[in-house]
Amino acid sequence: MPTKRPSNGSTTPDYLSRRGLIAGAAAGSLVGGPSWASPPATLAGAARAAGLRFGAAVRASALDQPRLRDVLAREAATLTPELELKWAALEPAAGRRHEAGADRIAAFARGHGKRLRGHTLLWHRSVPDWAARELASGGGWDIVARHIDATVGRYGALVDEWDVVNEPIEIGARPDGLRANAFIDAFGSDYIARALRAAHAAAPRARLFVNEYDLEYDLPAHRARRAALLRLATTLIERGVPLHGVGIQAHLDLGKGELATDELRGFVAALAALGLTVAVTELDCKEVDYIRPADERDRLVAAHVAGFLAAVLPHPAISSASCWGLTDDQSWLEVTAADRARFPGAWADGSSPGFNRGLPFDAAGRPKAMRDALLAAFAARPRS
Ligand code: G3I
Repeated sequence: MPTKRPSNGSTTPDYLSRRGLIAGAAAGSLVGGPSWASPPATLAGAARAAGLRFGAAVRASALDQPRLRDVLAREAATLTPELELKWAALEPAAGRRHEAGADRIAAFARGHGKRLRGHTLLWHRSVPDWAARELASGGGWDIVARHIDATVGRYGALVDEWDVVNEPIEIGARPDGLRANAFIDAFGSDYIARALRAAHAAAPRARLFVNEYDLEYDLPAHRARRAALLRLATTLIERGVPLHGVGIQAHLDLGKGELATDELRGFVAALAALGLTVAVTELDCKEVDYIRPADERDRLVAAHVAGFLAAVLPHPAISSASCWGLTDDQSWLEVTAADRARFPGAWADGSSPGFNRGLPFDAAGRPKAMRDALLAAFAARPRS
């Protein structure tokens, strides 16, 4: 295998270097140069072989980076706009839509034969101020309906999955486990069904999801959240509401203790019994220890991700797995002041802890152990 040894001592297969990519592209393939007997696996290809779609979140501004474009083009079958489809980003002022960012990601997806995961139509953290004011003063469903129609209508079949409602659960807020937000205040708990019906009317072929976080660990709050989300899904299905899937965000965290692997298996099976598909929508991993050598850190992340994937991926109801970014430098996860405070004296010489290493590729686009964990989990998936 042709390899180059970069200055940090890690070994990068030539097909992942810029040179290898150019050679591959020149030979008519995005992966591998002419010397490859068969192209090496990509995450998209390995997932496809396992009956899954692999995807990644991306911000439109990141598409300025040729290296990231290469990695996305090669490794992801679907793209999730990380910011650009959220209501506050799309319509910061009433009726004035800012679609350039989402359109840019859509154009990249079309140009590379990819689909988009639509994220997200209704999210309590992304209600434009003007809409929050109108909702609070009895403005009615029309503004929500217009937002859903315009957003879903614009991208048509390119978006075949929508996170219609993001993070509708909040433990302790209400007896039904639903989040107290601007929508529930204005329309009651029926806002979720209304949004799903509106999205279904605008895109009858799209698969419609609710997407949720804090479902993965053996913690009381996660247990309660799994139960509340299952109750919500059950109610919606029993009422005949067009809900097709549930998204498990999977923002993993090495500081949160044991994964609830058995419970996760049961949770996926219970959702499947309702006829739902289940997507892993925002996979990444927050680290705890930033002073170990990078390869040790990468192995810890990979082992944790592998444990999560081993719990959920074997179930046939799982349809896709997406990471929340592909390269560490693009991650929303940062090494915070609180993280630094755990290591007194570290980086006192002005050096930097660098990035959280919770995605499959490092900041230079080199694959890490987490990518191997994903490939292995896809390969191990039982074939139906
Ligand atoms: O780009 C501007 C920059 O110009 C400005 O200087 C800076 C100052 O705050 O803000 C930058 O924008 C930030 C943007 O991320 C890009 O970094 C926004 O403030 C910040 O709110 C935004 O955060 C995003 C967050 O959703 C809110 O939209 C994160 O990137 C994004 O990863 C996160 O994604 C969420 C999912 O939608 C739902 N699940 C959890 C996940 C992580 O929080």
